[in-house]
Amino acid sequence: MSEATRPQIGLLEGLMTNRAMRRFTDEPVDEEDIWTCLKAAVQAPSGGNIQPYQFLIVQDPDTKLALAELYRRGWARYEIAIAPTGFPDDAAREGWERNNRATVHLAQNLEHVPVLVLLLMPSIDMTVHDDEGPMPVGPTHASVYPAIQNFMLAARSLGLGTAMTTLHRIYEDEVREVCGIPDRYEVLALLPLGHPTGKWGVAPRHRPAERITSWDRFGEKRTP
Ligand SMILES: Cc1cc2nc3c(=O)[nH]c(=O)nc-3n(C[C@H](O)[C@H](O)[C@H](O)COP(=O)(O)O)c2cc1C
Repeated sequence: MSEATRPQIGLLEGLMTNRAMRRFTDEPVDEEDIWTCLKAAVQAPSGGNIQPYQFLIVQDPDTKLALAELYRRGWARYEIAIAPTGFPDDAAREGWERNNRATVHLAQNLEHVPVLVLLLMPSIDMTVHDDEGPMPVGPTHASVYPAIQNFMLAARSLGLGTAMTTLHRIYEDEVREVCGIPDRYEVLALLPLGHPTGKWGVAPRHRPAERITSWDRFGEKRTP
């Protein structure tokens, strides 16, 4: 879609309505749009501005299929391990079932998603040391997730859907082999990217901001 015909949305509206999209049409993604997302991603903050990440954009059908098979292998184990034994009420059960249907759909159709974006993080330790010892200012991951979120928000602004996924990590060695990724990189996230079939909207959250926010002293609550 050209810049002129694309509906414009504000930043806050975009991030409030950006939910995990797991169903996509066959419509290809413009390479220009992928670049826009990549450029937005690298504008995210990172410790010392070192940007400890790389992207791998997968569009080749055979590579997507190989990744989808590994993702499905991981999912098959994971879904058994996390299967809920009960729900507090019908609404909770319905919410879980809706989310699960979409998750299963993605696992079963990952190779058909137009683009799979891999986020690679070098296995480095960003902890700085001095004479007093280590200064643990945060794990390297903390300098990668903001870039992932920026990528996903930029996609939202372009009308493209994404979902943060990590199930491929269960078979990360094989993922590296499929894509020729050197051992020194973790494959931190896999983002399916495409034109979503679902609608954007504010997703339900069972822990609203006021419940998990204290003011001045831990436990002191306010209502918005
Ligand atoms: C660290 C992380 C790992 C995730 N892994 C997966 C995954 O492997 N597969 C998947 O379908 N969704 C995955 N998700 C997506 C979450 O299920 C989703 O963000 C959450 O349910 C909220 O979705 P909503 O914004 O649509 O409500 C992951 C999210 C995060 C932050």
